[in-house]
Amino acid sequence: MSTEMIRSKKLHKSYEGEVEVHALRGIDLSIKKGEMIAIMGPSGCGKTTLLNCLSGLDDISDGYVSIGGEDLNALSDNKKTEMRASRMGFVFQFYNLLPVLSAVENVELPLLLAGRTKDARKKAEKALDLVGLSDRYEHRPSALSGGERQRVTIARAIVNEPDIIWADEPTGDLDTESSDKIMDILCELNEKNGHTMILVTHEDRVAERAERIIHMESGVIKRDQNNGA
Ligand SMILES: Nc1ncnc2c1ncn2[C@@H]1O[C@H](COP(=O)(O)OP(=O)(O)OP(=O)(O)O)[C@@H](O)[C@H]1O
Ligand SMILES: [Mg+2]
Repeated sequence: MSTEMIRSKKLHKSYEGEVEVHALRGIDLSIKKGEMIAIMGPSGCGKTTLLNCLSGLDDISDGYVSIGGEDLNALSDNKKTEMRASRMGFVFQFYNLLPVLSAVENVELPLLLAGRTKDARKKAEKALDLVGLSDRYEHRPSALSGGERQRVTIARAIVNEPDIIWADEPTGDLDTESSDKIMDILCELNEKNGHTMILVTHEDRVAERAERIIHMESGVIKRDQNNGA
């Protein structure tokens, strides 16, 4: 049985508009189950676009993407949404926490939305425990530090026990100590629970923690290296 989790072939993505932007120019990628990958490259090279296209958040312009052997192009929008809800977790900046909900309510939300109400609160608490926030269940996002908020976001991403976690600059605005803590959590989740992890970062310090580093430039993969440190 193949252990391939994510596959793209000749993936292209263009944004239409006054000026057409050809953001991805033929991405061929194979990602195995349980891999931890860092994607690096200059601003505007297509990193976020790549995550959006691989996760089915955005339609592709040409080529092929599959998740667990399923061709995303063959799935309806509803099926793709369902797949994301059941198999993927997102640590994206625009997936912000809801300010009116407490930490535990924010984490519980994906379970409630997926109709998995049984023990939802308990699972949410367990996810918060995993990221070291056992004493912050009832805090609203505004009463948490940046690093703590990011840990709530991670708890929310893992509460569904997803196969794949996508993280776009998960340590973006954090100081070194908080950033290291976030990476400790993500690495442990990857090692212990076997989540496939794809994270975008511009920091060498963060990328070093991944087993494979993909360098992008102007919509193509320039380098794909095993990080055999
Ligand atoms: N919705 C959109 N409409 C039009 N162009 C877009 C859209 N989203 C991104 N682009 C363009 O596509 C290119 C790739 O953008 P993308 O957001 O993937 O870059 P990135 O590598 O994530 O950059 P950063 O490190 O700054 O986040 C950029 O030139 C950007 O201007
Ligand atoms: Mg980006």
